[in-house]
Amino acid sequence: MTAIIVEKRMLLLTFLCFTVEAMGRESKTLLEKQLLAEEKLKLINKPTLKSIQSADGDVIDCVDIYKQPAFDHPLLKNHIIKMKPTYDHSRKRNKDSSQATTSAGPTPTQTWQKSGPCPNGTVPILRVQRHHLLNAPSIENYGRKPWNGVVEHEIHLSNQTIAAGIEGLHAYAVLIGSGYNYIGAKASLGIYNPWVGADDEYTTCQIWLRHGEYNNSESIELGWMVNPSVFGDKTTRFFVYWTTDSGKETGCFNLLCPGFVQTSSEIALGAAFSHVSGDELQYEFSVEVWKDFDEERWWVVYGDTTVGYYPASLFGGLWRTATLVFFGGDVYSPRIWESPHPSTAMGSGTLASYHFMDAAFIRQPRIMDFSGYYKYPDPFGIYVNQAYCYSAENYAEILWTEPLLYYGGPGWNFPYCQ
Ligand SMILES: *[C@@H]1O[C@H](CO)[C@@H](O)[C@H](O)[C@H]1NC(C)=O
Ligand SMILES: *[C@@H]1O[C@H](CO)[C@@H](O)[C@H](O)[C@H]1NC(C)=O
Ligand SMILES: *[C@@H]1O[C@H](CO)[C@@H](O)[C@H](O)[C@H]1NC(C)=O
Repeated sequence: MTAIIVEKRMLLLTFLCFTVEAMGRESKTLLEKQLLAEEKLKLINKPTLKSIQSADGDVIDCVDIYKQPAFDHPLLKNHIIKMKPTYDHSRKRNKDSSQATTSAGPTPTQTWQKSGPCPNGTVPILRVQRHHLLNAPSIENYGRKPWNGVVEHEIHLSNQTIAAGIEGLHAYAVLIGSGYNYIGAKASLGIYNPWVGADDEYTTCQIWLRHGEYNNSESIELGWMVNPSVFGDKTTRFFVYWTTDSGKETGCFNLLCPGFVQTSSEIALGAAFSHVSGDELQYEFSVEVWKDFDEERWWVVYGDTTVGYYPASLFGGLWRTATLVFFGGDVYSPRIWESPHPSTAMGSGTLASYHFMDAAFIRQPRIMDFSGYYKYPDPFGIYVNQAYCYSAENYAEILWTEPLLYYGGPGWNFPYCQ
């Protein structure tokens, strides 16, 4: 078996060398990229028990739960999968009595689910295809955020000013809460499909839970994103992300590096939504990340489905608690501070001041502390770093109800955002 593979590789190499000679410099880099891509595909994709071809072009691999990528992590070699949280969290999860300003919209399904379920004992994993890697700015760093350092920013909260790290080349429009004992965060996110102007740019709506210094923080992030450099298209997809060093060397989206342990056979990370909000309906979905009282895992919940967890042992300070929480939008572009401003939009593509049915919203942002109850973050503040391009605002349509967090903007194309 091995001999045959080696022989095939030699043949391939001989063929490539020959072609490279013949085709000159440009093609050489392309062929090198192809070789790199093949190696990377072998590392990322796991043997599949069943493959589901989704109507939208995605392929979902049903992978044996004990052969998922997490087991490639040195800390998780002998990890024993836990299928359910120890603490029955659902009892407290819905105890929230505050009245929202508008009623919740419908939650879409994941498009691939129409093409059939994964069998018991497997987890659905979005397959990385050759074209995803070949379109990515970097094959080596595929699935990671581009690293451009972290900038310290002063953030004004209701009763204090804090310093927080903002990733370089990112525009944020967020609500920030600061505390010392966050062990959970959740919100319901309106789902949109904002314009992304170039394949090396992306836009998200998400929750960040963070711990650490401004320039060296650990985080767990989750929400939806449009990210052609990872997914090869401009559809809106569910994602999770983690890092232990502000993204410098560790972490990635979804299962694109070992870390997240998936337990759900129903929800796939990176899968597209069946619907996004339009003129008629505002679609939304709730996401939640919370740490079990056994201290071992940060569980990720999508709607009512527990998707899996980040083992707390991956983290240092975040092993125990988070100290900062962000809710809102994030646009990344290598040209975010250049003129003309990139055309990548945030949220629904309109400014927060357009409010309901036009601007993107986040409903009921919450943190959990050691009481085990979800609360509105306090102290909190609104933070934007490109106010002419993207904005954020807490606004209640009905005076005595809890406001929605509106955020977003069109990027370029807007009079002051040039
Ligand atoms: C799959 O697992 C669930 C929960 O353990 C069980 O109720 C169900 O019968 C199983 N289905 C099959 C086809 O084995
Ligand atoms: C973060 O910044 C502080 C102060 O500027 C510096 O001392 C420290 O080495 C930095 N840490 C990292 C990981 O860059
Ligand atoms: C700000 O408010 C929070 C929550 O009410 C409180 O815990 C904290 O001590 C306050 N901080 C300052 C500096 O007053």
